Amino acid sequence: MKKLTFLTTLIAVTVTLLLGSSIALKEGQTCVANRNCDSGLHCETCVANGNVRPRCTRIKPINPFSKVKGLPFNRYSWLTTHNSFALLGQKSETGSVILAPTNQQDSITDQLNNGVRGFMLDMYDFENDIWLCHSFGGQCYNYTAFQPAINVLKEIRTFLEANSEEIVTIIIEDYVTSPKGLTKVFDAAGLRKFWFPVSRMPKNGGDWPTVDDMIQKNQRLVVFTSKASKEASEGIAYEWRYIVENQCSCPNRAESQTMNTKSRSLVIMNFFRDVPDVTQSCKDNSSPLLAMLNTCSQAASQRWPNFIAVDFYKRSDGGGAPEAVDVANGHLICGCANIASCKENTTFGACDLPEAEITPPRAASNVTSFGYQNFRPLQLWWMAFSTLLVAIFMLL
Ligand SMILES: *[C@@H]1O[C@H](CO)[C@@H](O)[C@H](O)[C@H]1NC(C)=O
Ligand SMILES: *[C@@H]1O[C@H](CO)[C@@H](O)[C@H](O)[C@H]1NC(C)=O
Ligand SMILES: *[C@@H]1O[C@H](CO)[C@@H](O)[C@H](O)[C@H]1NC(C)=O
Repeated sequence: MKKLTFLTTLIAVTVTLLLGSSIALKEGQTCVANRNCDSGLHCETCVANGNVRPRCTRIKPINPFSKVKGLPFNRYSWLTTHNSFALLGQKSETGSVILAPTNQQDSITDQLNNGVRGFMLDMYDFENDIWLCHSFGGQCYNYTAFQPAINVLKEIRTFLEANSEEIVTIIIEDYVTSPKGLTKVFDAAGLRKFWFPVSRMPKNGGDWPTVDDMIQKNQRLVVFTSKASKEASEGIAYEWRYIVENQCSCPNRAESQTMNTKSRSLVIMNFFRDVPDVTQSCKDNSSPLLAMLNTCSQAASQRWPNFIAVDFYKRSDGGGAPEAVDVANGHLICGCANIASCKENTTFGACDLPEAEITPPRAASNVTSFGYQNFRPLQLWWMAFSTLLVAIFMLL
């Protein structure tokens, strides 16, 4: 009898696992693998928050153009990855082991497909080329070098070519001193044809051209450098002439004017730790991020950030960084608390009632494992199948 109960339970678990693998669950619902979750979500726990039940969490913001097109570029907010290239577990293309801290989990192409539109890239002279390094002292080493910048720039080119209505921003922490080093690598990557010219950037806090205009003129790549001299010498916009930027809480970053400086039309909100922490990031990217978004918008003269930059952008206990971007876009685009409530093509301030919150079902059990991200359907089947085999074997 006891054995029968055991077998029944095992079969029930197996069937749930297998059926569950084809159900599209909503945000907050319990899941086993990424493919259980609806599009734009993945399955994970947030142990740092005490959320040990794996649930579907957001990895993709709402595309703001799906609601309102035609506003100036500075009226939109974009999900931005800090050190976008510094991927967890990646080996250096020099063959060396990487000893530098890492900040993200997936490739630039995957980030683009998940709606990331701002990329913070650290560029260095290295090996007679320009490399993406997470280094120190202005110098790149084998063990801090990730890969040649051209690889990542080509991924961005491929995306811009395939998506004729998308705009991408690159923010370079610039350690390149070789003459025209950046110009050469952007040209070699085939990105020149998308270049948004510095001459069209508003210098005194005015509105940017509209996104429609940028799309129509195919000027869909906006690039900023941290080196002031390159604006004159290479036509690459000096970041802090156009942007105010905070330093993790609300004070401005040293190079930036104060957050309330209105002669800069764009606002970056950075929200990440000095030392990136994959475990804590799910907690950081949850309610503390939303709280900081409110605080920093006040500090920036009631301006909602155009770029929300985080580490491990996919990690959260629910809506995460994508939700923060949706909130900023709601305020920027239509004057609503979240872009989900903006009516399509509507006048500012007309909002749909917020949708009812999805109540997560009670957890069937307390699962404490952490590594749900990489389950493949085949692994799931295999897991279920082998569980059954073991069960039958034990009964014989
Ligand atoms: C660094 O990597 C290059 C290959 O890109 C290799 O030729 C060189 O020997 C390496 N240097 C050290 C110190 O390991
Ligand atoms: C909003 O406007 C765009 C362009 O003017 C149009 O293509 C789209 O169909 C409109 N959407 C609605 C819901 O009216
Ligand atoms: C899960 O853990 C919490 C506290 O850690 C407990 O209150 C709850 O009853 C547990 N649920 C199950 C199904 O074991």
